[in-house]
Amino acid sequence: MDKLKLLLTITLLAFVSASALAQTAPAAEEPSRAETGGAMTLEDILRRQRGEEVDTTFREGLIGDPNAAAQLTDPLGTLGGASDPELWRALRFGSADITSQVRNPGATLLVQDTGMNWTLFREGPLRVYGGYFLLGVLGLLVLFYLLRGRVMIEAGRSGQTIVRFKSIERFGHWLLAGSFILLGITGLFTLYARVFLLPPSAGALNTEAEIVARQAEGPLVETLLEYAKWVHNNVSWAFIAALILVFVMWVVHNLPSRHDVNWILKGGGLFSKHSHPPAKKFNAGQKLIFWSVIILGGSISASGLSLLFPFELPMFAKTFVILNSMGIPSMLGMGPLPEVLTPHAEMQLAQAWHAIVSFVLMGIIVAHIYIGSVGMEGAYDAMGSGEVDLNWAKEHHSLWVEEVQAKEKKSAPSGATPAE
Ligand code: HEM
Repeated sequence: MDKLKLLLTITLLAFVSASALAQTAPAAEEPSRAETGGAMTLEDILRRQRGEEVDTTFREGLIGDPNAAAQLTDPLGTLGGASDPELWRALRFGSADITSQVRNPGATLLVQDTGMNWTLFREGPLRVYGGYFLLGVLGLLVLFYLLRGRVMIEAGRSGQTIVRFKSIERFGHWLLAGSFILLGITGLFTLYARVFLLPPSAGALNTEAEIVARQAEGPLVETLLEYAKWVHNNVSWAFIAALILVFVMWVVHNLPSRHDVNWILKGGGLFSKHSHPPAKKFNAGQKLIFWSVIILGGSISASGLSLLFPFELPMFAKTFVILNSMGIPSMLGMGPLPEVLTPHAEMQLAQAWHAIVSFVLMGIIVAHIYIGSVGMEGAYDAMGSGEVDLNWAKEHHSLWVEEVQAKEKKSAPSGATPAE
């Protein structure tokens, strides 16, 4: 009997400790990848959900494996073709033999990882922060207007004028301005139309009325988006042409000069009433506008061309190679940038860059439009009639006035008064 009791106790103890061990033991070991036949493991899926890097080399390495490929000849079963894993692997890692009517570098890549990140970025931070940025700039301009008021011609209008811009210069400016404004409006429309013109889409959670409204308004919004795209794509050429024209005409006047530092230190005289730092044809503030337009406008044009000719003008991988070789990412505390990108990732980066840089330039240009029109008395005439009041010119571009008058004196016959 005693022996039986002892045996029972030992069995019980063994059972309890075994189950306790089972509870404290680490989570079930990750199954060997070989056991899954190259499919994703539960750990892989959990890693993906946590947004962590997933090692796909094992599955990628299986492509073309004769054992895996042998399944291609297996007959179809009730649960699908036995060859499915091999085919999906090849599609997933971009090595499937796809015959396409349209032969372009992106046509054979049917599955890619980066699309969802791009969609979420475009629908989230890009819309939200881009919108707030522009509203912020508008708010600052209103604040500036309330605090400083309109920048007036301090000496009042003289009644005499001086030629500021020739007609070719004004043509270049208005071609640039007109095309930029159209591009800005149609670009913003493309980004925000669905948000503001359609009832919210909450999928299955939409009320019936919302679904009906979406179905009714959807086609109209889509048609408007198509028009917007047409205008955006075609007007881009005018912008590029104007950018080149403006660059050629004004680059010499926008090279840095020693007067720029003084102008910047005095805030261009914009924040105090009696300060008029001397400047030539363009002051330091205008030079900043000019170079922003050229550099940011040039970058927007390049990424725009890349979007206009899908997959034909990839630029990012090449740029990343250069940036990595210059050590720029490590200077910023980042790891190296990817030097190999799928054709689709190239397009997604081009779109994101195009939009971000456009938002920055739109912010700068909104400020420029303000100061070139309502913000400063007498400024608009420069681009309107091409002639500005002499007192305006003396207050904002004194060195340029001296240059023009000296030239006129030189070319005028002796005794004649220079025309103004
Ligand atoms: C309705 C919109 C606009 C108005 C009222 C306007 C007004 C003006 C004026 C009055 C000037 C001459 C300033 C001076 O005499 O010193 C000027 C120059 C200039 N504008 Fe505009 N502009 C507009 C839109 C644009 C746009 C959209 C761009 C570029 C995308 C642009 C780029 C330039 C550049 C590069 C200059 C020469 C540098 C400077 O003065 O800042 N403008 N603009």
